[in-house]
Amino acid sequence: MIVGELHGDVCKGGGDVHRQVDVPDVLFVFFGATGDLARRKLYPALYELWRSGELRGRMAVLGVSRRPFDDEAYREFVRKAVNEYRPFALYGETASSFLERFFFLSADVGKPEETAKLATRIAEVEERFSLSGNRVFYLSIAPQHFAPIAQSLRTSGLLEGRGFRRVVIEKPFGWDLRSARELNAALLGAFDERDIYRIDHYLGKAMVQNIAVLRFANLLFEPLWNRHYIAQVEITAAETVGVGDRKGYYEAAGALRDMVQNHILQMVAMVAMEPPGRFEPEAIRDEKVKALRSLRIYRPEEVPLFVVRGQYRSGVTLGEAVPGYREEIGNPASTTETYVAAVLFLENFRWWGVPFLVRTGKRLARKRTDIVIHFHTLPHTVKALSGIEGEELAPNRLILRVQPDEGIFLTFNVRASRSPFQLIPTAMELSRGEAIGFNTPEAYERLLYDVVVGDPTNFTRWDEVEAAWRWVDPIAEFFAAAGEEGLAFYPAGSEGPEEAQRIARRHALPFTSLVDERAPILP
Ligand code: BG6
Repeated sequence: MIVGELHGDVCKGGGDVHRQVDVPDVLFVFFGATGDLARRKLYPALYELWRSGELRGRMAVLGVSRRPFDDEAYREFVRKAVNEYRPFALYGETASSFLERFFFLSADVGKPEETAKLATRIAEVEERFSLSGNRVFYLSIAPQHFAPIAQSLRTSGLLEGRGFRRVVIEKPFGWDLRSARELNAALLGAFDERDIYRIDHYLGKAMVQNIAVLRFANLLFEPLWNRHYIAQVEITAAETVGVGDRKGYYEAAGALRDMVQNHILQMVAMVAMEPPGRFEPEAIRDEKVKALRSLRIYRPEEVPLFVVRGQYRSGVTLGEAVPGYREEIGNPASTTETYVAAVLFLENFRWWGVPFLVRTGKRLARKRTDIVIHFHTLPHTVKALSGIEGEELAPNRLILRVQPDEGIFLTFNVRASRSPFQLIPTAMELSRGEAIGFNTPEAYERLLYDVVVGDPTNFTRWDEVEAAWRWVDPIAEFFAAAGEEGLAFYPAGSEGPEEAQRIARRHALPFTSLVDERAPILP
């Protein structure tokens, strides 16, 4: 039951779209311009930035891929992509002025001789729109191309001249600590760290960005944000989708590298970090990295005590019969995990002894990403002294619902109005999507905008990536060595493997239900 709602009128209607920053003009060079990410996320996001006025008249795009497109075919590709993901949004003069800014180069970016063609096209487009020379190179391609492209951009002189040069890198950033270091060294041969924008699109999600605001702008929460008041933290990133068309990548990566190394650990860092001295990008990232470095690293033999991995079998997701992972990818012996649950500990003063339960998986019962802060239970004196009956005295919980329906909820106990001798747990909705912004921008809109204005706060700095791999590496090694042993199978459409509750109960309260629609907002 929702007993109250407070809506932030201040923010209504505007969202965080209209920030008062000088927006420079820019040329985006998209490598992987005809790929899935560009189609699903980048073009729709750019169009929103164009439509809202933030990048209108200030940008041009040069798409690069091996497809034999010309400019017209590329514009048609972009038009279809925007129409598919922002139905009815693309029309009129706004649409035509937007599409006119797209150009294409059909080239194999791995070959150095192709870079000369790239330089010519960049010069043409910049001249045509009198751009000031600011360039964002967006690498939405397979990671083996990152280093060669960075290298050829440098040797071709495309990183020189007036304006800024920024590079945006999609994940995976390396495969383990060693390969991540090699990749980073190669990038640093061409770009400064401050010009490298490593995307973690979870950092672009409104509710993830809200964690810091909620914590540091509210007296109500910050004093309680520590081991004295918080019993456990629970982070869920559950999906209903399977691996889709990314079979090769996923089979090699698995859920640990695909979701935990980046999105989940970033959410852990946002919840756990100390308040930064200043609200500036580097000060914030300094605190995040300290949190990640204080993660207790498990030795391989400890892994089964703290980490569970699973793989989906066939089942029914959202009313549809779906095959198991092995059938889906056509490898009957695959031991790749599609689910990970883990209990993490941060070895620092604030969080000593507080379990952080995290889980993520594909083909689960529902799509739900949330962060639940479970406060300690009070002594049960209220019940004992006043003879109140009914539900157990439930601990207070603060829930940040990241998706699909954004919101913040606080649960507490009240006396039932009809029966004064009964306690009932209740939830207050503090804020939700439409209160935060009428047309809440998508993660990629925020992040693309941040790259243009040069705000790296919501991108992962190298030392964060490094700290995350340090925690992940021994677990990944353990998984690889264990093969099928310890791999817990779960039916598609379920809560995930029961083993997850086993490790949860060993350290904390079990994970909240995924099947029950009211959970974790109401018990
Ligand atoms: C991506 C992963 O980073 O995040 C995908 O590679 C996953 O496997 C996706 O499906 C989930 O993102 P979102 O925004 O839908 O939660």
